[in-house]
Amino acid sequence: MEALKTFRVYNGGIELVFGPNSLVELRRVLASMKRPVIVTGSRSARESGALGEVAKVLEESGVGYVVYDKAKPNPTVEEAEDLARFYEAEGCGGFIAIGGGSVIDLAKSARALVAGGGRMLDYFYGVKQPPRAKPTLVAVNLTHGTGSEADRFAVLTYEAEVEKRGFPAGYPDYSVDDPRYTLTLPLNQSIYTSVDALSHVVEASTSRLSSPFVEAISAEAAARIFAYLPRVVENPRDLEARYWLLYASMLGGVAIDHALTHLGHGLEHLLSAYNPRLPHGAGLAIIHSKLIEEIYRARPLESWRILSNLDPSLKPRPEDAERAGEAFRGFLARVGFKETLGDYGFTRGEVERLFKMILVKQSMRRYIDLAPFRVDEELLEKIASSLV
Ligand SMILES: [Fe+2]
Repeated sequence: MEALKTFRVYNGGIELVFGPNSLVELRRVLASMKRPVIVTGSRSARESGALGEVAKVLEESGVGYVVYDKAKPNPTVEEAEDLARFYEAEGCGGFIAIGGGSVIDLAKSARALVAGGGRMLDYFYGVKQPPRAKPTLVAVNLTHGTGSEADRFAVLTYEAEVEKRGFPAGYPDYSVDDPRYTLTLPLNQSIYTSVDALSHVVEASTSRLSSPFVEAISAEAAARIFAYLPRVVENPRDLEARYWLLYASMLGGVAIDHALTHLGHGLEHLLSAYNPRLPHGAGLAIIHSKLIEEIYRARPLESWRILSNLDPSLKPRPEDAERAGEAFRGFLARVGFKETLGDYGFTRGEVERLFKMILVKQSMRRYIDLAPFRVDEELLEKIASSLV
């Protein structure tokens, strides 16, 4: 077994500490905070042990704090406003987000609003950018999926318009990626979040903003996911496997920070904005099980760097797109992912209608502009019909 090193990564000015017991490295930072709000969901912060460890450091340092534990999956614009109001009313000085992407994104969003004023929707639609000076945000990440601890984006849902999108909300100041905190992640969440990370590197490395840097970290991340997700499915308490999945998802965060995502995430956001019961990673797994072929055809070299890990006989040429799709679906089957959109109540007509909204919604424009191929009705119908 390779030694599981603890080390630092500086992306976008974040001081991210990666590795077992990395919270210890940020003791001084936590000790210097003034009445931070700890943002969490209902269970995982406690179950993972992260909340207890953060609270212990704060208490030993004499730092008073308040807890906001109302964060839910798929956070909304209104929920971010609620947290911002709570922060102001409690006279807080800084955020400590303990959770997965939903919790970190909620804290990022509320912090942008606290710092820049106005309405959350201004930031959501990109009318306003968060100011440079913001309250301190420490992100203690508990999943190996979103990479939100390493990037500047937050994803929110605006229910009134059935819109879900990522927007720049500002980097955390400090992040903690400790694989010990992911050992209690349930099996289905372990798969969903890993497929989310895999989708980040597939889309970032094939987007119109990609670069040799993004391609290199994407290939590395995908190789780790293909090697270690089956091990976590076998034994969820395999710390070495969790370490590398977390490493892959952190790299995925850096990859989308540089090259963003494209059609896979655009389509998934349309589905889960409409039906929030659909987990982000599950939606992505289903969509990419077909979309991956289109991506491979359009960007064979970049896709081959990722998928040849699954099938070394693949060649970087468009003719191998279908076999690349088979390799990807084979991997999903191997880790036990069998879900369909039908399981979440979607009908073929609904999926087609939702997919086509990507052509008309202004807020979804960048997801199609960054795709490495032309996105039209015909393509969307083809993908929808292969999924339901
Ligand atoms: Fe994602």
